[in-house]
Amino acid sequence: MNIITFDSDDKLNEAAANIIIGQIQTTPRAVLGLATGGTPVGIYKQLVNDYRRGMISFNNVTTFNLDEYVGLPIDHPESYHSYMNSHLFEHIDLPSSQCHIPDGNATDPEDECRRYDQLIELSGQIDLQLLGLGHNGHIGFNEPAHALIRGTHVVDLADETREANARYFTTINEVPAQALTMGVGTILKAKKILLVVKGADKADIVQRALQGPITTDCPASLLQTHPNLIVLLDKTAAGKLS
Ligand code: GLP
Repeated sequence: MNIITFDSDDKLNEAAANIIIGQIQTTPRAVLGLATGGTPVGIYKQLVNDYRRGMISFNNVTTFNLDEYVGLPIDHPESYHSYMNSHLFEHIDLPSSQCHIPDGNATDPEDECRRYDQLIELSGQIDLQLLGLGHNGHIGFNEPAHALIRGTHVVDLADETREANARYFTTINEVPAQALTMGVGTILKAKKILLVVKGADKADIVQRALQGPITTDCPASLLQTHPNLIVLLDKTAAGKLS
């Protein structure tokens, strides 16, 4: 595991964007796993700037997003489809046929999960998986549990996850109760994982995830087993690491 700490948000975002650009430049048809949430917003902004400056083309890239809420209309401002369009996809030359996000409105969610796993399988392996970290140690929407699920599945969101994400909605009642998420098995199969965490409120969970016991109670702790994990932290998120 390679942990790098930054004292400025701009430097962290630039470093993350450079890792993603490096992956695209060295892999002819790079497959990227993408994340949502507050953390990657600045990274996507940096990638859009780099694209506008002619530093990178996404024409041959394929992307798979980690997750999507169940039952939120696709054009709802807080759907992860809307998030990806507004923060990244509509600003770059990534063909829409090459961006994949689970369909949270599928009539048969189980079937949608199988379809999503097959698509990932068909694309080969995810070359670089970008990840954020939930306050309870979730990655994607893989919540703490007695057992974790390998592939894409429907998940009941933990109360603390709905509370954390309520800031994007008018009331907590509007936060969907379920989501479709890529499984931990798929995440760990990525050739390289880029975990990005910001903020003092994540310092405890960063410590547990990176230096605590490997346990399904903290899904991110399984990342310790990955042979090619890069962790980018701001100073405050790194505050409790020994
Ligand atoms: C969200 C997403 C995760 C994200 C996490 C942290 O609910 N499903 O992919 O990493 O929670 O979000 P944030 O970066 O806003 O703290």
